[in-house]
Amino acid sequence: MKEALWQNEVVSIATEVNKNPKAAEELLELCADAALDGVSLVAVVVKTGEVVTALFNKIKVKTPSEKTFFEIFMTERCTQASSRALVNFMADVDGGCNLFELYNVDCSFDLMFLATLREYRKQNLGTLICKYSVEIARKVRDGFVVPINVADLGPKYSHLKKTTKPIEPYPKICQVLCTVKESQKIVEKLKFKVHLTVPLSLYVYDGKRFTERIGDEDAICQISALPLYES
Ligand SMILES: CC(C)(COP(=O)(O)OP(=O)(O)OC[C@H]1O[C@@H](n2cnc3c(N)ncnc32)[C@H](O)[C@@H]1OP(=O)(O)O)[C@@H](O)C(=O)NCCC(=O)NCCS
Repeated sequence: MKEALWQNEVVSIATEVNKNPKAAEELLELCADAALDGVSLVAVVVKTGEVVTALFNKIKVKTPSEKTFFEIFMTERCTQASSRALVNFMADVDGGCNLFELYNVDCSFDLMFLATLREYRKQNLGTLICKYSVEIARKVRDGFVVPINVADLGPKYSHLKKTTKPIEPYPKICQVLCTVKESQKIVEKLKFKVHLTVPLSLYVYDGKRFTERIGDEDAICQISALPLYES
């Protein structure tokens, strides 16, 4: 993630997470938190064991609380302006489109952080890991997935909250926030429906529009979703 996501992804560049190792470290904690749900995936080179693609997925349950998962994370765990700006961006865009209400569901499976190492890109790995994530999302209902233990993440993340109960309720939709053309292309191929398109020029970090640091005035992000079951 540090190498393939925070260095290359456009909003990480716009918020200068790519230049702030502490911010990147804090965002890794968001990945660790998601990993506890037991539904994140990696692609590994069999011969060497090298992880070349990763997709951290998070099961989001609709709660009566005013604050979302991202807002709580930002308030409680981000000390750096860069990491706060990135998570705030995700919370803000997510907030622009209430998928729980739109689909009348109580639980969603968020394809949250996706990255492939530069030298392994354009080999269909990103597409495959998203496709398998959707398959896993469908299997949560049947108890195929169990949360992993904090201890499995190693001592660095021992402070994260333990999840011992199986996830309840189960996801009825998949959702994704895509900030680059490549991921937008992937979810289009997987038949996700775009519900919100936002120009990145609307967001500002440290006096500069996101698009200024990205170097593309037309850059957009999209929120898309896919129902997991026939209604
Ligand atoms: C986005 C990312 C994960 C895609 O990974 P990948 O393993 O290359 O994915 P795929 O090989 O399945 O390619 C996905 C699609 O994007 C296209 N694509 C890949 N690189 C591209 C590029 N530089 N320009 C245009 N299209 C590109 C591919 O052709 C493919 O579409 P196709 O199947 O219609 O040909 C990878 O580019 C990445 O890690 N980027 C940096 C981090 C990031 O931006 N993450 C996503 C945040 S939402």
